Amino acid sequence: MARKRVAILISGRGSNMTALIEAAADPDFPAEIALVLSNRADAGGLARAAEAGIATAVIDHKGFSSRAEFDAAMDKRLRAENIDLVCLAGFMRLLTDGFVEGWRDRMINIHPSLLPLFPGLHTHERALEAGMRLAGCTVHFVRAQMDSGPIIGQAAVPIALDDTPDTLSKRVLTAEHQLYPMALALVASGLATVENERLKLHADVPADLGGMLVGPAFTG
Ligand code: GRF
Repeated sequence: MARKRVAILISGRGSNMTALIEAAADPDFPAEIALVLSNRADAGGLARAAEAGIATAVIDHKGFSSRAEFDAAMDKRLRAENIDLVCLAGFMRLLTDGFVEGWRDRMINIHPSLLPLFPGLHTHERALEAGMRLAGCTVHFVRAQMDSGPIIGQAAVPIALDDTPDTLSKRVLTAEHQLYPMALALVASGLATVENERLKLHADVPADLGGMLVGPAFTG
């Protein structure tokens, strides 16, 4: 089966992007990273992608007078590059409904909490303030409402009583780097799809892979 052509959208350092690039360096991985697109020219991830020999592009949102125009420019670029799947990886722009619908079930995101808890920013601060004993991360299909959509996989990370947002975010990030490539592999291979707005895992998903996507397997 042909490898799916993936674009990764970033705004910053791109550590999840790097994890996806490293996973896709394996010729058996069902996706290739065809493009890294940033809305910021100073995103650290752009240099890392270029070092890995990946095509990069910058579409600066400040050059557009509306979200719709910015999203249309991104959409045009993605389609020009024959992109099959879009991975959001620290992409810090809200997307319009039209863009999200255009990539329905072909765009996934990683969020550093166990959704639907703590969508939005400052997730680790909020988890600690709430006295949570578990944190984690989620990869999900993207829907118009921020940080929502059918969940593909989650990794749980225990919270230590002396954790700070910084120490917790580092451990969750380690889990993110393991979870995101696995979730992308499931989607790119067609083993993970959406049915009635819930994840459908097809019968031939290896049991260990399905199992690893849930639970405290990724404590860093
Ligand atoms: C990650 O915590 C990700 O879950 C969130 O934004 C952060 C991006 O970090 N959506 P990086 O750019 O991948 O290092």
